[in-house]
Amino acid sequence: MSAKDDPLIRFSVAIGGELLQRFDQYREEHQYPNRSEAVRGLMRAALIEDAIEHEDVEAVGVVTLIYDHHASRISDRLTELQHEHLDRVVTSTHMHLDSTRCLEVILLRGPTRVIRELANGLIGTKGVETGRLVLASAHPVGSADAEAHGHPHPHPHSG
Ligand code: NI
Repeated sequence: MSAKDDPLIRFSVAIGGELLQRFDQYREEHQYPNRSEAVRGLMRAALIEDAIEHEDVEAVGVVTLIYDHHASRISDRLTELQHEHLDRVVTSTHMHLDSTRCLEVILLRGPTRVIRELANGLIGTKGVETGRLVLASAHPVGSADAEAHGHPHPHPHSG
């Protein structure tokens, strides 16, 4: 059974005054329409983070790199690394930030372990001023789906 067929279940939560105040502030700032939506959002975020941290789930990663294109062969190195991982690089965008610095955004897809390694290679390339990887699970997390546990699963939109 998929979680989509599950009925909503109400449960009560006991929370002390200050934590609830902070939570309501958070809910307003993040524009959640109500507490239930905010709790669901936070639960999903925690489960996604946990799955990405501890399981080899299918993930998408966004790598942002800022570098000076004058640095020795950096453009070549970054391009080579991406050509070596053709099957993991979905797309990339290059933007000339100012007279010397470039911003490159690279979208990756694959098992978290592979994405992390490749991202570390890109970010660690000599001459990169700063780099960051943002990971997300490619599949819904927090449902009863097998794919949330890293098993291969036919994609519903393919074929
Ligand atoms: Ni540039």
